[in-house]
Amino acid sequence: MKKWIFILMALLPSLASAAGGSSFPLDDPKNDLTDKASLQNGAKLFMNYCFGCHSTQYQRYERVATDLDIPINLMKDNLIFDNTAKVGDLMENAISDSDAKQWFGNPAPDLTLVARVRGTDWIYTYLRTFYVDPSRPFGVNNLVFPSVGMPHALEELQGTPYKVYEERLIDGEMVKEFVGIEADGRGELTAEEYDQAVRDITNFLEYAGEPMKLERQRLGYMVMGFLVIFLIVTILLKKEYWRDVH
Ligand code: HEC
Repeated sequence: MKKWIFILMALLPSLASAAGGSSFPLDDPKNDLTDKASLQNGAKLFMNYCFGCHSTQYQRYERVATDLDIPINLMKDNLIFDNTAKVGDLMENAISDSDAKQWFGNPAPDLTLVARVRGTDWIYTYLRTFYVDPSRPFGVNNLVFPSVGMPHALEELQGTPYKVYEERLIDGEMVKEFVGIEADGRGELTAEEYDQAVRDITNFLEYAGEPMKLERQRLGYMVMGFLVIFLIVTILLKKEYWRDVH
């Protein structure tokens, strides 16, 4: 029985990436969980642009406010859009899976653990690789998640993204080669600012998946410090005990 659980656990990440269905190379966001400003901005963007469809129902507003140094009042006034929600509540939202399935073809999954399932590289690349594709219901497709059901939620910030091709001469033949995705410049952010915004959202989602990560590092240092002090005390004690024996 145990063996089967281990095999299943080993297989889970590959199943998850298979669901994404693409081998597009992923970019590393180089996000930093100790960067509070980035986490706060990520929380703000997430609540404004993602929470309408996705919940993070395994965390509470209050805990997020405390962990990210967001004053409770600010959290209440600016980041909790549900009038009936209290600050101690779980971060659930009102959209039902069946409605979402009808509108987008698939439910919008809860994102509390998405960074652990997909990885931060995947999320960072996913949010930067939407592109115009008129054959899709929402007019967009995605490079790491082909035929995705999600609309491009950040279009207002990025602008409308198009696939860019360059003509190259390969073996005497002109070949159109895909070189990347470029927005039309009508978004609120420049390309660099957009990458930073997506990095902040990714940072927030990594934190959401493992809020103890920060605390664990801090505790680790304290435990090491304690052990060093304890070692010194032990050495002194040993000297004291053995003094009369010699
Ligand atoms: C209009 C509704 C909507 C909004 C807004 C939205 N999403 Fe989605 N999202 C979806 C749907 C629907 C899916 C499922 C797509 C599918 O399975 O085809 C999805 C899928 C995802 C996935 C993939 C989950 C998985 O593991 O399969 C991630 C990650 C994600 N969204 C992140 C975000 C982020 C971050 C934002 C905010 C910037 C956001 N979404 C905004 C509807 C939305």
